[in-house]
Amino acid sequence: MAALEQVQFAASILSADFTRLGEQVEEALKAGITRIHVDVMDGLFVPNLSLGSGAVIALQVLRKKYAAQIYAHLMIADPDRYVADFVQAGVDGIIVHIEACSHPFQTIRSIRSLGVRAGLALNPVTPLIMLEEIMAEVDLVLIMSVEPGFGGQEFIQGSLDKIARLHRLLVQNNLKHVKIGVDGGIHLSNAVAVANAGAQILVAGSEIFNLRAPVSENVHALFTRLRLPSSSG
Ligand code: DX5
Ligand code: ZN
Repeated sequence: MAALEQVQFAASILSADFTRLGEQVEEALKAGITRIHVDVMDGLFVPNLSLGSGAVIALQVLRKKYAAQIYAHLMIADPDRYVADFVQAGVDGIIVHIEACSHPFQTIRSIRSLGVRAGLALNPVTPLIMLEEIMAEVDLVLIMSVEPGFGGQEFIQGSLDKIARLHRLLVQNNLKHVKIGVDGGIHLSNAVAVANAGAQILVAGSEIFNLRAPVSENVHALFTRLRLPSSSG
């Protein structure tokens, strides 16, 4: 099980106020967020449309200023077509869906050959067995705890058991360095349980960017819940 202090939150900008995207992301970074999660949707693999590599380019100034990482979560069919684009835009990692890749080894290898981290996402219905042959080649497995496509959905409870089983599978195969990320429906109410199940990267969108409270307050609340040190800036 991952020690709680090793847990990292990734801020999904999907729920941010796009009229003030830079301002909101900077507020999150100042509060201690170190990873930005950019959700890319094509209206085909998922029913929604969202951001492209332009968002990654726009965030470069903040990425450098705060030494933050940007991961692109490609919820798109045939993601190979856009890997080079996102690397060029300045990502630290690219996450593709196993369900969207015809040749996952090729896709993962091409992402890594371009010098960035490679992540593989699994939809809620996709069993862990799909990973067995390829898990040694990835840097990150992203367990989707909602159906991909929209922010603000309810966490699928069965994901907790799936995370725990993935954690065991990685340990059994001497792959503890492969990170477990979880994406969707993460809130103050379940963040500790998700981390305790074995996740190291918790992607949070609507819990960080919402109309209830300022971004910095939301980040501090999450950090406090996990007893992580947060910055006061
Ligand atoms: C879902 C996206 C998630 C989502 C998270 O398709 O991949 O990253 O934006 O948002 P919340 O935290 O609101 O579920
Ligand atoms: Zn995502």
